[in-house]
Amino acid sequence: MRITAERGDLTEARVDAVVNAANSTLLGGGGVDGALHAAAGPELLEECRRVRAARWHDGLPVGEAVATGAGRLPARWVIHTVGPNRHRGQTDPALLASCFRRSLEVAQDLGATSVAFPAISAGVYGWAAAEVADVAVAAVRQAAEHAPSVEQVHFVLFSDAILAEFERALAAQP
Ligand code: APR
Repeated sequence: MRITAERGDLTEARVDAVVNAANSTLLGGGGVDGALHAAAGPELLEECRRVRAARWHDGLPVGEAVATGAGRLPARWVIHTVGPNRHRGQTDPALLASCFRRSLEVAQDLGATSVAFPAISAGVYGWAAAEVADVAVAAVRQAAEHAPSVEQVHFVLFSDAILAEFERALAAQP
């Protein structure tokens, strides 16, 4: 598994699966969630509603992940995951690590060979970029053996400051 970090916009990522930093409702929001829904078009929300109705009646739990189609996005799938919200006292790094691990397990089940992640929880959910980078890199590295079909993981970061944190974390964990 090759793991890279790059500056970019997840809505433009040309990968098999993009990972959405969703909330438990799966009904959209701001940040990455809002951008992906806006770019994907209304069919993404319709499919999220069906996922809710079919399996996650009470919402997607923190740390879980579920896939849908990607509407008009270049990617083939969107993997929705819910990061821990520091403002609600969700400070356990294992919850954040689970987002990355479960998303890769879902990607493996889909047969996705390339996956793009944002800095989950580093925006509205209030986690420090440095901690997100360390947790994300370690979790993806540890999950690699459980997702042998995933050949390429991109961390797609929305600012130079967060990109620098992921580059630091990648260099620190060879
Ligand atoms: N592409 C890549 N990264 C992006 C994009 C984008 N188009 N838009 C925002 N980001 C970055 C943010 O700058 C931040 O670094 O993604 C990271 C995650 O931020 P959020 O999207 O706010 O996600 P999160 O902190 O996990 O909060 C999730 O916010 O948008 C709502 O519905 C969402 O309630 C949920 C909560």
